[in-house]
Amino acid sequence: MAEYDKDKQAKEYYLDTPVNNYGFFLKGAHSLDWGMKNRLSRIFRPDTGKTVMLAIDHGYFQGPTTGLERPDVNIVPLMPYADAIMLTRGILRTTVPPSLTKAVVMRCSGGPSILKELSDEELAVDIEDAIRMNVAAITLQIFIGGEYETRSIHNMTRLVDMGLRYGIPTMAVTAVGKDMVRDAKYFRLACRMAAELGAQIVKTYYVPEEFETITASCPVPIVMAGGKKLPELEALTMSRNAIDEGASGVDMGRNIFQSDYPLAMMKAVNKVVHEKMSPKDAYDYFNTIKAEG
Ligand code: R5P
Repeated sequence: MAEYDKDKQAKEYYLDTPVNNYGFFLKGAHSLDWGMKNRLSRIFRPDTGKTVMLAIDHGYFQGPTTGLERPDVNIVPLMPYADAIMLTRGILRTTVPPSLTKAVVMRCSGGPSILKELSDEELAVDIEDAIRMNVAAITLQIFIGGEYETRSIHNMTRLVDMGLRYGIPTMAVTAVGKDMVRDAKYFRLACRMAAELGAQIVKTYYVPEEFETITASCPVPIVMAGGKKLPELEALTMSRNAIDEGASGVDMGRNIFQSDYPLAMMKAVNKVVHEKMSPKDAYDYFNTIKAEG
């Protein structure tokens, strides 16, 4: 086994050298099967290579999160403005109209609530049910450095194997705990492990320093998780920075549905991600939509 290079500081990420995608628009996906590429193309827009994913799966461990108390009332109207929706099968089947043709990214892990050790997760959806729901991807949390790190990775490799069997990509979400360091070194480790062990997409948090080394050293697309609610301009700036530093999109929840103007925020995030709009212009756009009511 290679020695862990914990003392070696100098690394070369070749930040100016683009990755060769061998003819497919998405990083690391050229050798996948047609079905998987087709599903990835439903999540990531082939014309921009990016995605705006709306994350509303928070209830799977924390119940009726602020802003998600009645997803039928205030979340379903946002869905037409997302490229993909990340949610549980419970909310999909009870609340989302089957006529919605947006890509579904299905939360497939669960178990502990916020009252318990969060890394103690198991797989919670069978691949047959994922197929039945016509999902575009399956997803779960990995807890690198967490108490049940190995089990969460084993959950992921099982999900990846099931997904490969049926052409469904797996998105690994790098979880952070209250005692865990949130820095580039940690996320490089977590994201690279997820990709090396088979995830076709990785979702992770933005860090203001060296985020570009996280995306550069991860051979599959990274989408940025939003995290706690920020003022809108800050959230738009974070999204812009993440995209400029190599992210292939955002998977945002609270920064959209906890905004006082979620539809305006949804539209502004789209401008940043797909139209390369600056944070300031996107914020002006947000205010314009907000003023229009
Ligand atoms: C959290 O465990 C969920 O997977 C969320 O989907 C994720 O945290 C993204 O949502 P937010 O942007 O609110 O952080």
